[in-house]
Amino acid sequence: MEDNSQKRLAELVQQTRSLDPREALSWLATRFPGKTVFSSSLGMEDQAITHLIWENDIPVDIFTLDTGRLFQETYSLMERMFDRYGKRIRVCFPDAGQVQELVNEKGPDCFYESVENRKACCGIRKVAPLGLALKGMDCWVTGIRAGQSGLRSATPRVEWDSARGLVKFHPLLNWSLEEVRAYLSENQIPYNPLHDRGFVSIGCAPCTRALKPGEDERAGRWWWENNDSKECGLHVPASREGQPALTANHE
Ligand code: ADX
Ligand code: SF4
Repeated sequence: MEDNSQKRLAELVQQTRSLDPREALSWLATRFPGKTVFSSSLGMEDQAITHLIWENDIPVDIFTLDTGRLFQETYSLMERMFDRYGKRIRVCFPDAGQVQELVNEKGPDCFYESVENRKACCGIRKVAPLGLALKGMDCWVTGIRAGQSGLRSATPRVEWDSARGLVKFHPLLNWSLEEVRAYLSENQIPYNPLHDRGFVSIGCAPCTRALKPGEDERAGRWWWENNDSKECGLHVPASREGQPALTANHE
């Protein structure tokens, strides 16, 4: 896809433009057979997408990155998903040696000390395992929504990730938080009980807190840092890598 990527991406944007999330997922899974994967953090949006994939038998592999620092509620949710669907989300772990070195050199909670430490921890526990999980894949599905942050509001629904050399698809990009909640409720999809305790965006336990009234959706992530650094490196916009995003589809 690297060659001629602009033209091929335009074709994908065109083909999926009028499709709803389920139809678009099916179409992409057929277009990239065995090479379309969905990364789930088991957050609200991801639960909705997992339901769409499993209920409709769409051939998309679902994996989660277990950083080793997730909330117990998140692990319990994995078990509840198995009870509900009879399937397991594939779990990917970080390299044990790298985690061990980081923790022994800098301490188990070194991420509170500096942005550099925090990025090192996210790099080892999330970004590197993500790279392995996406290796050889053509299409990466995520639960990103435009309403999550100013940075994400400019995200196209289908985009070319030049750093990883694959297509990225965000089926629920234009859903509101309320629409996601309503979808979970209508379809009785299990979700993290922390969402009912003020947590909106949920990541690792030591780096996530509940929102205070009036705060934006991602304020509970790495709350001790300023807004500019609040991405862990999983999602780096193409424009930030010195290359413009190839095209946009905001439907
Ligand atoms: S993050 O970059 O700040 O950690 P966020 O929690 O908003 O990301 O989630 C956005 C999307 O990134 C999720 O819908 C999911 O596709 C992917 N993602 C985030 N964390 C994980 C994880 N631990 N495992 C798998 N996918 C993840
Ligand atoms: Fe480490 Fe926190 Fe990043 Fe999780 S969110 S990988 S604990 S720095």
